Amino acid sequence: MAAHDDCVIRPATLADLDGVHALEKACFDIDAQSRRSLRYLASRAQADFLVALDGACIVADAVVLYRRNSGVARLYSIAVGASARGRGVASTLLRECETGAQRRGCRVMRAEARLSNLASRGLFQRAGYRENASLPSYYAGRDGRREDGVRLEKPLT
Ligand SMILES: CC(C)(COP(=O)(O)OP(=O)(O)OC[C@H]1O[C@@H](n2cnc3c(N)ncnc32)[C@H](O)[C@@H]1OP(=O)(O)O)[C@@H](O)C(=O)NCCC(=O)NCCS
Repeated sequence: MAAHDDCVIRPATLADLDGVHALEKACFDIDAQSRRSLRYLASRAQADFLVALDGACIVADAVVLYRRNSGVARLYSIAVGASARGRGVASTLLRECETGAQRRGCRVMRAEARLSNLASRGLFQRAGYRENASLPSYYAGRDGRREDGVRLEKPLT
């Protein structure tokens, strides 16, 4: 368990699913994860699933996926509720994710972001990630259109 200001960061449990689902719906208009997918991530996936709590309230979450025999961890999702943004919660969560990936023997953390998501790209850049590939039409967009993305990577040393 880690602390950030008055937030506590800990692994998610199945009891957190309602709170995480509400957070996902509030943070993402297109990319929100279904309750079913969240349940899988919290129970059976090869993943680290972290939540940040302010008191009893889940204010942020992050998921890192792992593949067998791979030294590359993938930051699958990170989200901070609007009321908790701008105070470093995402940065702290990201560091916790990196520490977890290192503990599992991973050498690299990889992530993707929409080209238009300046907050997300800023978060990763600030944390030392390099944008090393463009991902044309990688994301679903509005009205059936596709949106470009970028791949980000950081060596875990
Ligand atoms: C992206 C997100 C997780 C950032 O959370 P946060 O807790 O506000 O981020 P932090 O306070 O830790 O900020 C860390 C750095 O990110 C960058 N950043 C954060 N918000 C930003 C914004 N709105 N615009 C530009 N840069 C921003 C800054 O570089 C910041 O460092 P600084 O405060 O020293 O300048 C949050 O805005 C969010 O959940 N957005 C919706 C969901 C989402 O897009 N998730 C990412 C999908 S890849």
